[in-house]
Amino acid sequence: MRRGQIAIALPKGRLLPEAIKLFEATGIEGLEGLMESRRLLCEDVTGAYRFMVLRPADIPTYVEYGATDMGVVGKDILLEEERDVYEPLDLKFGACRLVVAQPKNLQQRWSPGGFSSVRVATKYPKLAERYFSQHGVQVEIIRLSGSIELAPLVGLCERIVDLVDTGRTLQENDLEEVEEIATATARLIVNRAALKTKHQQVRDLIDRLQAVVQGEGG
Ligand code: PRP
Repeated sequence: MRRGQIAIALPKGRLLPEAIKLFEATGIEGLEGLMESRRLLCEDVTGAYRFMVLRPADIPTYVEYGATDMGVVGKDILLEEERDVYEPLDLKFGACRLVVAQPKNLQQRWSPGGFSSVRVATKYPKLAERYFSQHGVQVEIIRLSGSIELAPLVGLCERIVDLVDTGRTLQENDLEEVEEIATATARLIVNRAALKTKHQQVRDLIDRLQAVVQGEGG
């Protein structure tokens, strides 16, 4: 990495197009390759910034360890990963909700206070565990990495804890939401050491991003 260059982690998947648009709106140029190809690494035209496309769940780790100076990631992942990073900005896009869902035809109706134990499949083991223990319910967590909605359909569990955006995945798999656990939007996160060692460049970019989010930039 060049001296003084800022490394930024962007999340692969649904948040990527908005994340790229946001940085482009601050005046950064040369990021087209990240959307139009399978390129996972690219520098902007000035060489001041280096962008990397990573799995969302890995981004807080990269930023905490300083492998990248900054990152864009969903609040859901920040709550789950509990990494020591600075979170200066709510970027306001990518709004979604973390919910408990179950098959529409499940015999046992939703009544957390009435359960002694439940089995739940999720990508969010800590958040799910915390939610059920707050309700005094013993929970068996089955950790999966994707296609969570399939698990109750094939008898792996009765319920899931997963993200809902449009609600289409639940609908098309005959599942219904029974409880909202959290809401989430995309956040900017920053490595704590980079805030000091690259203070001027980091602060400048945070300010430009903030101006765009508040509708003053672009
Ligand atoms: C997410 C989430 C749900 C789905 C919700 O999965 O885990 O499955 O999107 O979106 P919807 O409410 O608009 O249908 P993602 O697409 O990230 O893939 P995954 O199954 O691999 O986690």
